[in-house]
Amino acid sequence: PRVAVVFGGRNSEHAVSLMGAGSVLEAIDTSKYEVIPIGITQDGRWVLAAGDQRFQIEGGELPAVDASGASLALPTGGTGLIAYDQGSIPVELGSVDVVFPVMHGPFAEDGTIQGLLEMAGVRYVGSGVLASAVGMDKGYMKAVLAAADLPIGRYLAVRDRDWRVGRDRVMKEAEQQLGWPLFVKPARAGSSQGISKAHDRAELERAVEFAREHDPKVLIEAAVGGREIECAVLQSFGDDPPAASAPGEVRVEGGQEFFDFEAKYYPDQMSLTVPADLPAETAEEVRALAVRAFEALGCEGLARVDFFYTPEGELVLNEINTMPGFTSLSVAPQLWAASGLSYPELVDRLIQLALN
Ligand code: DAL
Ligand code: MG
Repeated sequence: PRVAVVFGGRNSEHAVSLMGAGSVLEAIDTSKYEVIPIGITQDGRWVLAAGDQRFQIEGGELPAVDASGASLALPTGGTGLIAYDQGSIPVELGSVDVVFPVMHGPFAEDGTIQGLLEMAGVRYVGSGVLASAVGMDKGYMKAVLAAADLPIGRYLAVRDRDWRVGRDRVMKEAEQQLGWPLFVKPARAGSSQGISKAHDRAELERAVEFAREHDPKVLIEAAVGGREIECAVLQSFGDDPPAASAPGEVRVEGGQEFFDFEAKYYPDQMSLTVPADLPAETAEEVRALAVRAFEALGCEGLARVDFFYTPEGELVLNEINTMPGFTSLSVAPQLWAASGLSYPELVDRLIQLALN
């Protein structure tokens, strides 16, 4: 089968996507699949990856899609994958059997590229349009998780207009309903971009303005203390229910107050312990909740579900990621590796699930 590995994209997780795609391209079995690496530049142009495309952080420099890559023209004709340059109509590129969008964030993990591929009748790895869109918007994500009786933290969703016409009321509500400190996040972003912690009104106002640089819709969340536990979920073949990995615990090593972008992607800033040191029944509960979250959104392929385990022994579901960080050293692949599924096997499984 011909697999298009698509990476980059028009969003602030562009570099994160490249790091994941670099790992996928290394691990994918080229005796089994014909691989076509496709980059989407930061301004939305689809290009065949240049031969010397860099996928890693080097000397502190984040990687980006090399815009000098050849414009897309796939090896043979036929119907199938369509793509477009920003502002022009879709063009036919030729046929592929499956697309692996190793991408995160808006125009990548939010149902938009999934919709494009649905329109074109091309199969793809991961969640469909709705689950991707719901998973990307932390406001709707929480609404769906709450409707499925999953344990989420207290929060306030602040729409653009709410803030523009009533920021004082919003801040008062946040203070009264959630207390201090607070986390402020863009509703639709990832990799901790635009997130900050606020301990008072002045910080809250700055935090909302900062988050709004990423998204006019913002979430204010009550801080939930405790250990950070993550669990990966994988769709099964046939009618078997989705499977949960062993839960892992992530810790910040660099002294940051939370997992910011640096902690997530620069070396040695974060540690992962798998399996997490949890009572057996708590570990089972994590796995069951993770599968329920996956099903509540109607996810497909893979997801990573993130929890807080409070000092009182409660589990609070923080979020679900429909295309979690996907380098071979990222959390979800490591959780699966510790559960007996190696990274190359995971890549192959996801492609086979999409093809089936
Ligand atoms: N948004 C990043 C890639 C993650 O959740 O892992
Ligand atoms: Mg996320």
